Amino acid sequence: MNLLITGGCGFLGSNLVHYLASAHPEYYITVYDILTYAGSRSNIRGLENRKAIAFIEGDICDPVRLAGALDIGVDMVINLAAETHVDRSIMSPVDFVRTNVYGVQVMLEQCRERSIAFLQISTDEVYGPAPEDIRFSEHEPLLPTSPYAASKASADLLILAAHRTYRQDVMILRPVNNLGPYQYPEKIIPLFCDRLSRGLPVPVYGDGCQIRTWLHVDDFSRAVELAIEGFVSGECFNVGSKWEITNIDLTKRIVKLVGQSEKLIRFVDDRPGHDRRYAVDFSRFMNRFGWLPGRDFDRAIEKTVKWYLENRKWLDTKRTKDYGEFIDRQYGKLK
Ligand code: NAD
Ligand code: DAU
Repeated sequence: MNLLITGGCGFLGSNLVHYLASAHPEYYITVYDILTYAGSRSNIRGLENRKAIAFIEGDICDPVRLAGALDIGVDMVINLAAETHVDRSIMSPVDFVRTNVYGVQVMLEQCRERSIAFLQISTDEVYGPAPEDIRFSEHEPLLPTSPYAASKASADLLILAAHRTYRQDVMILRPVNNLGPYQYPEKIIPLFCDRLSRGLPVPVYGDGCQIRTWLHVDDFSRAVELAIEGFVSGECFNVGSKWEITNIDLTKRIVKLVGQSEKLIRFVDDRPGHDRRYAVDFSRFMNRFGWLPGRDFDRAIEKTVKWYLENRKWLDTKRTKDYGEFIDRQYGKLK
């Protein structure tokens, strides 16, 4: 199998590359990434000197560069390249439309010309907030709230349209929030590990009672592996778990694992349009692929927090100018 993994230097992408390189040494993998603030070659360090792993710095919106990367006998593109932070999408939606919508359309066309299968990593956020006791199935209408979620939903619609119009080979996975190593410290878990371990307060948005569903990134990678092997053209699958937790409970667990005091928790203004709960029914994926998410959330969060505490240097390298400006604007009042 010859794979092009776009966004392979980001959080999910780098974990996927590590996972596949170990589970499938026979795969030939090219990582294609523009290296935004969220992506770093150091996330896949140690793999690049393998013969079967290559890296190309490139933009998914650049059809010429993309064509060069695809014309080496690629069988499948797995797209994880995206702008991914909801708060940034509220401040600067145009960047999200460019990469998450236009970039996807460019990739679709390049894949169609070459009959290359396209596996898109979408998100549970495309459905919008789930009422209590309801888990959205894949048949639910898409009602995204944030510019980020709307850009991901737009991409899903373009991808499904390509299948209906051209019979193009496409498949979509919609995972929930992932936890694990190499996530840029603007997202709740690495951000809170970083700040708490330096004795700084952490900002919980609104009342902290919003619910997110969590999945360990290794379970996500296994789901992608199964989708590569059993690609079902024209289909979308939710990839979820039963680990639903409020942000405040999650925060308290992180505080405890870092060994800090709950006095460092600050309730701040809510994220505009903050969705109360995400929850998806993932039985279709489970039944079709025999996949099961992990059952031990305590172990997963403990392992994840430990990784950030043991990889302080990695966290320190992320506090660049961009990080400083963004975080100062968001959390300046907490200092
Ligand atoms: P991330 O922000 O950590 O990484 C994104 C990567 O894409 C970075 O390496 C970045 O350099 C690259 N990239 C951005 N724009 C690009 C462009 N124009 N051309 C090429 N590369 C570009 O993101 P992530 O958390 O790993 O998310 C990966 C995908 O999974 C995204 O599509 C996201 O919507 C989806 N997703 C993530 C989660 C999660 O919990 N992290 C959950 C559900 C879905
Ligand atoms: O649901 C899947 C999505 O999960 C992915 O599609 C996105 O790419 C990914 O970024 C993630 O989005 P979230 O908005 O859920 O992640 P974030 O870590 O930003 O926020 C998680 C929850 O924590 C959310 O309800 C907002 C809250 N939060 C977040 C931050 C950064 C806080 O209360 N304080 C914070 O400082």
